[in-house]
Amino acid sequence: MKINLVEKSRIDAVNFENLSFGKIFTDHMFISKYKNGEWSAGEIKPYENISISPSARVLHYGQAIFEGMKCFKSEQDELFLFRPEENFKRFNKSSVRLAIPEIDENIFFDGLKKLVKIDSEWVKKGIGNALYIRPFVFASEPSINASEANEYTFMIICSPSKSYYGDMEISVKVEEKYSRAAKGGVGYAKAAGNYAAAFYPTKLALDQGFQQIIWTDSNNHNAIEEAGTMNLFFVIGDKLITSPTSDSILDGITRKSIIELAEFHNIDVLEREITIDEIIKEHNSGNLKEIFGSGTAVVVLPIKSFGHRDQLYTLNSEKNSISSFLKEKLNNIQYNISNEFENWKYKIN
Ligand code: COI
Repeated sequence: MKINLVEKSRIDAVNFENLSFGKIFTDHMFISKYKNGEWSAGEIKPYENISISPSARVLHYGQAIFEGMKCFKSEQDELFLFRPEENFKRFNKSSVRLAIPEIDENIFFDGLKKLVKIDSEWVKKGIGNALYIRPFVFASEPSINASEANEYTFMIICSPSKSYYGDMEISVKVEEKYSRAAKGGVGYAKAAGNYAAAFYPTKLALDQGFQQIIWTDSNNHNAIEEAGTMNLFFVIGDKLITSPTSDSILDGITRKSIIELAEFHNIDVLEREITIDEIIKEHNSGNLKEIFGSGTAVVVLPIKSFGHRDQLYTLNSEKNSISSFLKEKLNNIQYNISNEFENWKYKIN
């Protein structure tokens, strides 16, 4: 692999205490191109603008997918990726759905490991600090023929981050007009277009004072799906409930880790359909104890209230919440503080 390093790092100009999500990028990036039926070994080079044709198919038809993953630094200065094999599998699953050629495992991991190592100074210690890693692929072939491309560009860029919403608790709007995904669609894939399609309804929700949307099934707008940047969990009585994944719900890696962690700590977890009617009923009878989201960017995020039609439902804050318990357990694995689930830690040597 070709490696071309920056002459001078930009790191000294970065205030790591005051990062807003996804705005600052590390010194280097990885890039590999697909042409004539194969991926190039790729190269690491300084983070910089790239040049693409105005007719690149991605600009017209949105043929692009991405991943989000994180690298953590332990107090002993070791670097750990969190379950990157899961991101790799999902990356190719998303690619297949968007008719994008799958990336070779060696190219993905070679690029990833070398890049993170080269930019390791950008990964800061301390709970909450992480390097957010964004692998993505797009149709770069110059042609506006409305079919899948023959040429693609795969890249990895990295952004030092804190958690997406910091320590705030958010309020979410139950969406009943717009849909994020439908049966047979691309909802389970991390397709760029899924996010673009959510921006307008989310903007309306933001204008109404919410931070996110709870997406419901596209037929009846009653079964709860996910929240776009995160999967959703509900604590009803002493049970932890989350919707089963489907072709309209992203199969979150933090989601499945939370389920496994909860089960490991003897919390009853149910993966079953959960509806808005049920949430409102359980809220009114005092059984709905917590709602929280899970995702790579948000980690574990408590939701303090939800809006449905004209009504705002506010949850009592729980002292010893299940969400803070699970978040701590997850963090302890990510920063190599505990020795639970050792196989989730991928050490960068
Ligand atoms: C992630 O958690 O990696 C996501 O995909 C959310 C991102 C769009 C901010």
